[in-house]
Amino acid sequence: MRENNQLTPQDQKGVWRMFNSIAPYYDFLNHLLSLNIDRYWRRFAVDLLLAHSQERGIFLDLASGTGDVGLTILSRSDAKVVGVDPATKMLAIFKKKAEKKGLEERVFEVVGDGLSLPLSDSSVDGALIAFGIRNIPDRASALKEMERVVRPNGAVVVLEFSKPEGFFGLVYDLYFHRILPFLGRLISKDPSAYSYLPKTVEEFPPPPAFAHLMEQVGFLKVRYWRLTQGIVTCYLGIVS
Ligand SMILES: C[S@@+](CC[C@H](N)C(=O)[O-])C[C@H]1O[C@@H](n2cnc3c(N)ncnc32)[C@H](O)[C@@H]1O
Repeated sequence: MRENNQLTPQDQKGVWRMFNSIAPYYDFLNHLLSLNIDRYWRRFAVDLLLAHSQERGIFLDLASGTGDVGLTILSRSDAKVVGVDPATKMLAIFKKKAEKKGLEERVFEVVGDGLSLPLSDSSVDGALIAFGIRNIPDRASALKEMERVVRPNGAVVVLEFSKPEGFFGLVYDLYFHRILPFLGRLISKDPSAYSYLPKTVEEFPPPPAFAHLMEQVGFLKVRYWRLTQGIVTCYLGIVS
C-alpha cells in the first residue's frame, strides 16, 4: 500500500475519514503502542478536571473518539457526559462501550465539530479534550468554543502529546518516528494514520507556547504538567 504522508489537520474531512477507517483498531492500538500508559494519562486529566470543578453535573468530552475520557469521567464521578466528535464510527464504539458498562443513560454521543460546537453557552460544567486539539487546525478557535460552552469558573483540560527532551527524547524519537508508524500501519492497515501522528506532534507548539495560547484566548490560572518524561502534557485553564 502506498504511504500517504500528505494528510494534514487542514484537510479536516480527510482526518475524519482516517479516524473512521481506524476506528475498529483504535483502542487496541492505543493501549498496545503506549504500553497501557495512556490509561494513566487520561485518569490524570480526568482527576484534574474533577478536582477543579465545583459543579459536576455534565462535562464535555470533546474529540471524544471511542470515549475513553468520557467513560473515565463516568467511572470517577456521578456526572453525565456529552461526547462530541465528527467521526461517526469512533462515536459508535463509544456508544457500544457505554452500553456494555450499563452507562448509556449518562452519555450523549453527538456528531459535531470542535470549531462550532452544537451546545449552548455555559451549558456544561467543564470540558476535556484528549489527543484531539492537534487534529483541529485553528486551535485558538477550538479553545474559544470550549470557553463559550463551559460555565464561568469551570475548568478546561487539554491532554496532548509533546516532545520529551534529552537522551530519553532521542530514544523516544526512534520509537515514535519508526517503530510506532510501522506497527500502526501493519495492524490498522491504514497507510497514513500512524505517520500522521508523529508528524502532527512534531508540528504542535511546545508546552509554554500552548499555555500562552490558552492565556491569550482568555483562560485564567493556566498551568501544565508534563507526564511520563514529557511524552504528553496536561494543560488546565479556568473560564473567567
Ligand atoms: C486521537 S483521537 C482521540 C480520541 C479520544 N479523545 C481519546 O482520548 O482516545 C482524535 C479524535 O479527534 C477527532 N477530531 C478530528 N477533528 C475534529 C474536530 N474538528 N472537532 C472535534 N473532534 C475532531 C477525531 O475524529 C478523533 O476521534
